Amino acid sequence: MQKAEQIRVLKGLMQHLDDGTNVDAGGQVRNPMSSYTCSDLAVREWQVFFQEYPQLLGLSADLPTNGSFFTSSELGKPILCTRDEEGEFHAFFNVCRHRGTIVESEARGEKSLFNCPFHAWGYNHSGELIAVPKEQQFGPVDRSCHSLIALPAVEKHGLLWVSASPESEFDIDALLGDLGDELAAWNLDAAVRHGSTTYKTDMNWKLAIDTFGETYHFNVLHKDSLAADFYGNVQLYDTYGRNHRMSLCLKNIDTLRQLPEDQWHVLLGSAPVYYLFPNIQMVMTPGGPILVRVYPEGPNPHRSFSEITFYLHPKIEIPGLSKVEDVEAFLTERMEGFASVIQTEDYVAAASSHEGAVAGIQEYATFGRNEPALHHYHNTYREALGMSPLEVISN
Ligand code: FES
Ligand SMILES: [Fe+2]
Repeated sequence: MQKAEQIRVLKGLMQHLDDGTNVDAGGQVRNPMSSYTCSDLAVREWQVFFQEYPQLLGLSADLPTNGSFFTSSELGKPILCTRDEEGEFHAFFNVCRHRGTIVESEARGEKSLFNCPFHAWGYNHSGELIAVPKEQQFGPVDRSCHSLIALPAVEKHGLLWVSASPESEFDIDALLGDLGDELAAWNLDAAVRHGSTTYKTDMNWKLAIDTFGETYHFNVLHKDSLAADFYGNVQLYDTYGRNHRMSLCLKNIDTLRQLPEDQWHVLLGSAPVYYLFPNIQMVMTPGGPILVRVYPEGPNPHRSFSEITFYLHPKIEIPGLSKVEDVEAFLTERMEGFASVIQTEDYVAAASSHEGAVAGIQEYATFGRNEPALHHYHNTYREALGMSPLEVISN
């Protein structure tokens, strides 16, 4: 985030604290509970959002060296992502062109060649078929039409984007809009992968996204956890096309008031949370970014899972941190603590909402004036599926 924007965010949060106000969406909206339970809608979401729309599968740090790779199955199809000898990012269907076996079964690593486990056809990091054992007996194989099937893949601002549809095209600059420059300013390509965890939950995937949509709940649901460090019901909110940024308010913002502005850093007073349409949350912390990728289990409206990855990043100066003996351990513990709150508090409440939705007791959920992210997510999903915007019930 550029310095001027950091100052604007911090001053905006201070103003809300001083005035006892919060961001205001200008009205409430009603969201039908069926948006979490409807099987037909889940089928359309799976196709439009997860099969056709560009998907963020990780950060550049997930392919740390030339020759590195990782595999993915989140989009319901086996995908192999590689960084070739020139450092270029590629994605393919991870399916052998001989008899369709999964070529690479490891989650991540470094290899000079991808050999299929069935008959050892070998592919390089550009997906080219370069080895066919016993070809004299097998018969000739035309290399030019037996490469791994390539998928659209773009690396930009330290982010790795893939589409699961080989014929699709996408323009990441257009999709990010003004957010591109801000993401570039975080130097995400310098981050280092620390570790990851997966949370599976009996709930619609959008309920997981919703837990990131407001801080109204902080002093209640997180009264014994995040409320110690965050002011609840105070945030700034900015949209960038289908994406957005919520700036949460850290209690440490009070110490910034005593410091000259040139010593302010946004991460000392705020936790910016980026939402990248349709299923990504990226929480910025002093230790580094936490990437949360939320997926339905295929077109099932009742099951979802979140892949949460922690990245370390060049540290900013945090007052008092110099007294901490092992800074890296301290920062990663804080990151992992934040993630465990998601699992043990946010996702528990969200799964409970799913239970209520399935019971069919009420027709709609209400999103308040202080929850603009929830308005934006759901109206954006609906717009992308050709549905009408949510009904506004007050101004
Ligand atoms: S199926 Fe891959 S080499 Fe035979
Ligand atoms: Fe929460």
